[in-house]
Amino acid sequence: MISFSQENDIIVKESKYRKFDVNEIRRDFPILERKVNGKPLVYFDNAATTQKPNVVIDSMTHYYRYENANIHRGLHFLSEVATEQYENSRLKVKEFINAMSASEIILTKGTTDGINLLANTMCRADLLNEGDEIIISHMEHHANIVPWQLLCDRKKTKLVVIPIDDNGELMMDEYKKLISPRTKLVSIVHTSNTLGTVNPIKEIIEIAHKNNIPVIVDGAQAVGHQKIDVQELDCDYFVFSGHKLFGPTGIGVLYGKAELLNKLPPYQGGGDMIRTVTFEKTTYEDIPNKFEAGTPNIVGGIGLGVAIKYLNMFNFQDISRHENELLQYATEKMILIDGLRIIGTAKNKASVISFTIDGIHPYDLGTIIDTDGVALRTGHHCTQPLMKRFNVPATARASFSFYNTIDEIDVFINALNKAIKMFR
Ligand code: ALA
Repeated sequence: MISFSQENDIIVKESKYRKFDVNEIRRDFPILERKVNGKPLVYFDNAATTQKPNVVIDSMTHYYRYENANIHRGLHFLSEVATEQYENSRLKVKEFINAMSASEIILTKGTTDGINLLANTMCRADLLNEGDEIIISHMEHHANIVPWQLLCDRKKTKLVVIPIDDNGELMMDEYKKLISPRTKLVSIVHTSNTLGTVNPIKEIIEIAHKNNIPVIVDGAQAVGHQKIDVQELDCDYFVFSGHKLFGPTGIGVLYGKAELLNKLPPYQGGGDMIRTVTFEKTTYEDIPNKFEAGTPNIVGGIGLGVAIKYLNMFNFQDISRHENELLQYATEKMILIDGLRIIGTAKNKASVISFTIDGIHPYDLGTIIDTDGVALRTGHHCTQPLMKRFNVPATARASFSFYNTIDEIDVFINALNKAIKMFR
């Protein structure tokens, strides 16, 4: 188990990867030891939020216990310590996604906040106007649909949707056909939270850029599972949430190329984003502060930085290999179950399995298998257009992280079979 007092060791060891031993990793996550309904917890709701390792939890209580102060405002000792930690986290994020500069990292409340910031400021900057088109896809989460609809209502801009096939893969030929001189923006999900589809994001960006169209990538479901390099992708913006990356809730990241962020107006007004204020005129700070009005989620930022340090101990190839084994094993077992339909069978898939079972509503299924300690998400997963596309009202969804095990999948499959027997 890694404790907070060993955190400095983590920093030292960052360049050397830790051996991938799932049982050892599990000991870093205290919640995985608890029981639910008298049974060991099997946590398969990682696409909704991931669990937190001790180092993250301890860093946050440590901050409140010993270092709590506001940042960027005081010259006193504690304020400087807090500021340094918060800004170090920004640097950690910059290195983690390989941004060119820390000023390109805006700390937000999360993915939804990042997309709303962009939609709102692009609207005010008149970057999208009547007759212009924004391309999204049929597999977007509501956070990458509704902010654009709000903008479209205001500007009479049109939302254009890339269709998907029955496997849940983007129809790339249709995407190419949708691009026209009217297209002003592509905003696309990297990895679908419902289908698990991993989109060919680099190709999507290249196609858009050939037509001088900027691209926003919703990376919420990608960051904890594969290496992200924003310079290599050459995306214009990339958004994600801390809580899906083993960090706290209420903190997230908007990466944007500096030249583009510099052209956007501030999002919210208040302290910390200004240079001078008079009643006649206010001038604004440079990025990133320009977009960070008010006292931010300081402890969230610190926790996110520690989560990244923790994750940096591992090689993403080990994480992907393990998660892929879980995906393959669970899929092979699940397709043997009579009446079970997997929604989302893309060739390139993350460790997410949405499914329905004939004759059992997903809500009933979720409730029943919860009695065996198994946590799934059930519902529309904030992707109602996808539910319509696959003609289902809802699905159950199992989503795995690198601390899950094959044994847990066996428990899950037994719980499914038990639930089915109750209904048939
Ligand atoms: N986007 C999160 C999920 O898929 C909340 O569950």
